[in-house]
Amino acid sequence: MARHIEIVVAEHPAQVVGERLAAAARLGGHIVLTGGSTPRLAYEHAAELEPDWSATELWWSDERCVPPDDERSNYGMAKTALLDRVTLGKVHRIRGELGRDEGAELYEEELRSLDRLDLVLLGLGRDGHIASLFPNQPTLDVTDRRVVGAEAKLEPFVDRITLTLPPLHGASEVIFLVTGADKADAAKRAFADDPSRETPGSLVRSIRGTTTAVLDAAAAAKL
Ligand code: 6PG
Repeated sequence: MARHIEIVVAEHPAQVVGERLAAAARLGGHIVLTGGSTPRLAYEHAAELEPDWSATELWWSDERCVPPDDERSNYGMAKTALLDRVTLGKVHRIRGELGRDEGAELYEEELRSLDRLDLVLLGLGRDGHIASLFPNQPTLDVTDRRVVGAEAKLEPFVDRITLTLPPLHGASEVIFLVTGADKADAAKRAFADDPSRETPGSLVRSIRGTTTAVLDAAAAAKL
């Protein structure tokens, strides 16, 4: 697999990622949003830069098993930061409220007709996880499904539904957005060290396309 990753250290990483998301929205295609708190600003920038997302289909890297209006919902975060502010195309929400097995099954089905994802945005946990693929978990070995249920190994401790590694590798463009000094160790392990199941972020590189990590100086301190 191509291991190359471009490292971008920026004063305002959310602005950089917001610009990339807006450019992708203009092109149309299948964009994967992610969860956690880091992307919120990037979504807000992207919405300001491009109000027309009608040519775009939105997907999620993972979801917490909560209703969409729960404050822990990844969909809910994206809705207030981005979806409510733009003209939308098709939105493929992961139905976390159905529980991890049924929710994963439905999303697998929804993804079935899709050949490949165009842009995948990912955050990085302090433990090196991406989406809801946590260190050393059996979910990292799944190759016959694109979506699985997962157990949370970091807060919030609610069940998860997550894309597996194959659809992430298959994306034309993978972008990590990582900020803050508490992510510096994980960023080193994910972007500078050898790939390891200890650090799921180190296992994700686009096979045929590009992989970029956009960080602030604090998160990039150990690279
Ligand atoms: C989730 C995520 C997860 C997230 C990282 C970083 O549902 O929690 O999708 O992979 O991106 O945990 O989260 P923060 O940005 O909140 O640090």
